Amino acid sequence: MTEEKKEMDLMVLLEEKRVFKPSEEFVKQTNVKKWMDEHNIKDYDELLKKSGDNPEQFWDERAKDLSSLNGYSKVMEWNPPYVKWFVGAKYNIVNDALDRHVTDGKKDKIAYIFEGEHGDVRKLTYNDLYIEVNKLANALKNLGVKKGDRISIYLPMIPELPIAMLACAKIGAIHSVVFSGFSALAFRNRVNDCESKIVITCDGFYRKGKIVDLKKQADEALENAPTVENVIVYKRTGNEVGWNEKDHWWHEIVKDMPETCETEKIDANDPLYILYTSGTTGKPKGIMHAHGGYSVGTASTLNWVFDLKENDVWWCAADIGWVTGHSYIVYGPLILGVTSVMYEGAPDYPAPDRWWSIVEKYKVSVLYTSPTAIRLFMRHGEEWVEKHDLSSLRLLGSVGEPINPEAWMWYYKYIGREKCQIMDTWWQTETGSFVISPLPITPLKPGSATKPLPGFRAEVYNEGGNPILNAGGNLVLLNPWPGMLRGLYKAPDKYMETYWKKFPDTYLAGDVARKDDDGYFWVQGRADDVLNVSGHRIGNSEVESALVSHPKTAEAAVIGKPHKVKGESLIAFVVLKEGIEPNDELRIELRDHVGKEIGKIARPDEIWFVNDVPKTRSGKIMRRVIRAKAIGAPVGDISTLANPESVEEIGRAK
Ligand code: WT7
Repeated sequence: MTEEKKEMDLMVLLEEKRVFKPSEEFVKQTNVKKWMDEHNIKDYDELLKKSGDNPEQFWDERAKDLSSLNGYSKVMEWNPPYVKWFVGAKYNIVNDALDRHVTDGKKDKIAYIFEGEHGDVRKLTYNDLYIEVNKLANALKNLGVKKGDRISIYLPMIPELPIAMLACAKIGAIHSVVFSGFSALAFRNRVNDCESKIVITCDGFYRKGKIVDLKKQADEALENAPTVENVIVYKRTGNEVGWNEKDHWWHEIVKDMPETCETEKIDANDPLYILYTSGTTGKPKGIMHAHGGYSVGTASTLNWVFDLKENDVWWCAADIGWVTGHSYIVYGPLILGVTSVMYEGAPDYPAPDRWWSIVEKYKVSVLYTSPTAIRLFMRHGEEWVEKHDLSSLRLLGSVGEPINPEAWMWYYKYIGREKCQIMDTWWQTETGSFVISPLPITPLKPGSATKPLPGFRAEVYNEGGNPILNAGGNLVLLNPWPGMLRGLYKAPDKYMETYWKKFPDTYLAGDVARKDDDGYFWVQGRADDVLNVSGHRIGNSEVESALVSHPKTAEAAVIGKPHKVKGESLIAFVVLKEGIEPNDELRIELRDHVGKEIGKIARPDEIWFVNDVPKTRSGKIMRRVIRAKAIGAPVGDISTLANPESVEEIGRAK
């Protein structure tokens, strides 16, 4: 089919059925409809209204439906900007995610079907997982780990990653997972920020047919990480690695450990994990989540939005290094006792149909991915999809950035075969769980994440703090919700300043959104100086600091430009130090330098050398102006600039 014809077909579909309604037959069988019937709620609007009128009662019921939380004196205690859920309950999320399944009939059910990049397969039952977690938890205790200690985990997508997380949580330690694609230096900063006592990593992993030498990166990071006392190394690839005094092989320290380990009962509001995310400054923020509320938030949203049932095979194709994986590969699915697929490698390795072969092979019934992945497959063409039988799929999902209608339609048509509704879930590391998202019963408008889920309240505010319709404004959340962050690790002022200062007692998401006449939300992108590259947050200033840390750079300004696959691509304008000659070699050197400082994902796609970057009189880089100039849009008011002549140079930059 020609490109034009294909595009026309998709557009016709879009025009014809602007609103996509699920079939009645499908609705009848959903978890949410069953719950509504039990509660005498007749439709979606009434569900939203009832849960909205009394959110505490709603969450109390959901906690009772899905968790073992009990003994709390209050459902919620709101002391802005801090919230506590299920106050007074003694609890541990591992009890719900793992321990109880060993006795509730799920013992032999598969928790994870793991496929390595070169085709190795491991299937772990809930009991297997339980034993592995207990052994590692005992080994951690032997190494002196106590409740509240921080443990940094630097592992790829292998079952040992959830095992390590659960082992920490089980004994009340706080895990901090760092995405294995982050560099040694990025890892070091995160280890040092939370003063980790233990690091858990592996020798290497497979990516695009090659071995990534993760141990080497960990070693480099740990050259300067004084709080780390012990390092646990899982053997994944068997490649040769350097060895230090603090290192222990995973298989050796768990070898003689008992297969049971008591799950520490802690306060429901004690921290479960710290996960770093980019903000508007060069330093990542340590988002903290607690055991109790987070468990109800993730399990409850997953149960309704993706409608998971006993025989489903769930595949959240994200990396556990991001919040998507924490909530919807590890905690949510395990609490629901679901079977999940986990894949180690690159989506197009060895060929662009790798994912579709996985869907076919394991009969995946619900698939959750990102617009950037969909656009990547779209670019390869549907021939790769059509080689496989995808009839097991019954529901699809999207996350990470607004999904453009073309990608939505392609996903709907080729992956969903026009039979699967698409759940476009808006949320953040901070929210812990989906916030604005359709339920499987919600009529869909491609490109809109639809409405806040039951129990959540969102609005779009103008600068004066009043709700507005049909215009872009600040996306805010009005009531606290169970998965709400408990704060930023050791940064209470930043917490206040980032989320709660602009509108009192109101959570500022940092996104621009529009609410339409039907109450549907259209998220447009970040409002602050944070970029969204392939569905991941990268702070402009983070990349700028990395560039400036290079000895030849004097100054740098980084902006995002629309990109066909990645959503946004990074463009850097660099001012070199006196006497340094700009050339292509230096471009490569700078790109690699950013890769070393942060990780490959943050490497600029283009680097332009300039003599100056537009700045205000107070010295603040005017990224808005640079971006406009770089993409050829009107630059607007530049009267506050100290150096207006620099704007023209941006346009001419080489
Ligand atoms: C930011 C959060 C939440 C897991 C993945 C990213 C953007 C996320 C959507 C969506 C439009 C979205 C927002 C948000 N975002 N999902 N469905 N539609 N935008 O987590 O790194 O914390 O980033 O991602 O800008 O603020 P994160």
